[in-house]
Amino acid sequence: MEGLGLPQALLRELTEILTPAHLLTDPDMTESYSVDWTGRFKGQARAVARPGATAEVAAAVVACRREGVAIVPQGGNTGLVGGSVPLDGELVLSLRRLSELGAVDGTSGQVTAGAGVTLGDLQRAAEQAGWAYGVDLAARDSATVGGTVGTNAGGLQVLRHGGTRRQLLGIEAVLGNGSLVSHLNGLERDNTGYDLAGLLCGSEGTLGVVTAARLRLVEALHERVTALLSFASPAAAARAAAELRRGVSSVESIELVLDEGVALVCAHLGLPPPFATPSPAYLLVECAGESDPTGDLAGAVESLADLGEAAVATDSSRRAELWRYREAHTEAISRLGTPIKMDVAVAPGRLAELVVEAPGVVAAVVARARTFLFGHAGDGNLHVNVIGALARAEEVEDAFYRLVASLSGSISAEHGIGRAKRRWLALCRSESELAAFSAVKSALDPDGIMNPGVLLG
Ligand code: FAD
Ligand code: MLT
Ligand code: ZN
Repeated sequence: MEGLGLPQALLRELTEILTPAHLLTDPDMTESYSVDWTGRFKGQARAVARPGATAEVAAAVVACRREGVAIVPQGGNTGLVGGSVPLDGELVLSLRRLSELGAVDGTSGQVTAGAGVTLGDLQRAAEQAGWAYGVDLAARDSATVGGTVGTNAGGLQVLRHGGTRRQLLGIEAVLGNGSLVSHLNGLERDNTGYDLAGLLCGSEGTLGVVTAARLRLVEALHERVTALLSFASPAAAARAAAELRRGVSSVESIELVLDEGVALVCAHLGLPPPFATPSPAYLLVECAGESDPTGDLAGAVESLADLGEAAVATDSSRRAELWRYREAHTEAISRLGTPIKMDVAVAPGRLAELVVEAPGVVAAVVARARTFLFGHAGDGNLHVNVIGALARAEEVEDAFYRLVASLSGSISAEHGIGRAKRRWLALCRSESELAAFSAVKSALDPDGIMNPGVLLG
């Protein structure tokens, strides 16, 4: 068996720990683990290790550390910042086999999930037990608990439930120094020192490997209304998002899409346009409650300035149709070519400024690029996807992230820093913050084997 450069002793030890079936070294077998979802980041794994238990993860990390072999933890490989793939010949540690899902504790409304459980499976298990999981995103059937904790994933319901960190009550992880930390008792009140779960959440695999998480569930709300609202301009839609955020207590999602993205989705999926006459911008709004929230939403919508048409649905199939205009953006854009994906946030009150200025900033670098704007407008989170400018990606990114920083925004709202944004981290973090990050990294991963190309570099 060839190990693409893995030291023979390590190869033997990992084979013993994992069995030959779960240590992949054939490049044909490791290829799909070596390229990211967008196709922009492609490397070659020295090997792919697929542990089936926490003890195997710990043994593998200890063995890699001893031999100085770097590790890239990987879940569903749906990450969008190049953080989940081995660009410098690292070993990929795939956590998908850690797919054990505990029983829902109906008293506390909590569940313990293995790192490899997909978001979709977690959501279905919560639903069957009469609860819901507060994080949802379009990659739900591939993205894993470990990956969503690793990135502190946001998604479509942050407005109501917060991001992944807000759902996290405890963690089990193998740190870069090989030690196992486990604190899964899920106490709502537990002030016994540093919050390791909170620290590991969003650390993008740079401190350790998450093997399981204790997660908070939320009340399942069955009365739902979804509305697609059209606006005369992107700025008007952004301003309306800020008003709806303030004015509707049952609101769960406020998502922005623009005419060009909607037309692309319609062409891609063969959907009819949402309205007979297209508009420059749309908001997709969903409210949920114990009783029908339609009146609540209608009251707030009536007072919006610059509102065009509205399509409203309460039955699940029509609601799902409206959601497709938003959710299919990522897939439809990727069909055009490899995108530059920029995921940023500003204060909700400044989103209008950002949506007005973003296209011009991109066009000033590559005049013929196609720029698509969409995102979680209720949280001030904008996705700017650019097609046709990959050869000048760094210039586009540099110009755009500087605009975001000038608006006191963040260069990563929800996808993380990964490899893609490392160069610009200092736009949002001070020297002393970065020094603190490095001190934490050295303490938990003293040999720097955990995802070394990511976040801090
Ligand atoms: P991966 O892609 O495998 O890994 C992501 C990062 O986490 C990497 O740095 C990796 O090293 C680390 N990691 C993975 N597993 C572990 C582990 N067990 N322990 C420690 N570190 C680990 N993201 C959002 O936030 N909101 C969205 O709305 C959203 N929508 C998306 C829609 C589509 C169609 C796609 C393709 C992606 C979307 N994403 C979204 C991005 C992506 O789904 C999230 O970043 C998700 O959290 C990644 O999960 P994953 O299991 O695929 O992780
Ligand atoms: C989304 O909100 O659809 C995602 O974060 C994915 C993307 O940015 O493409
Ligand atoms: Zn998003």
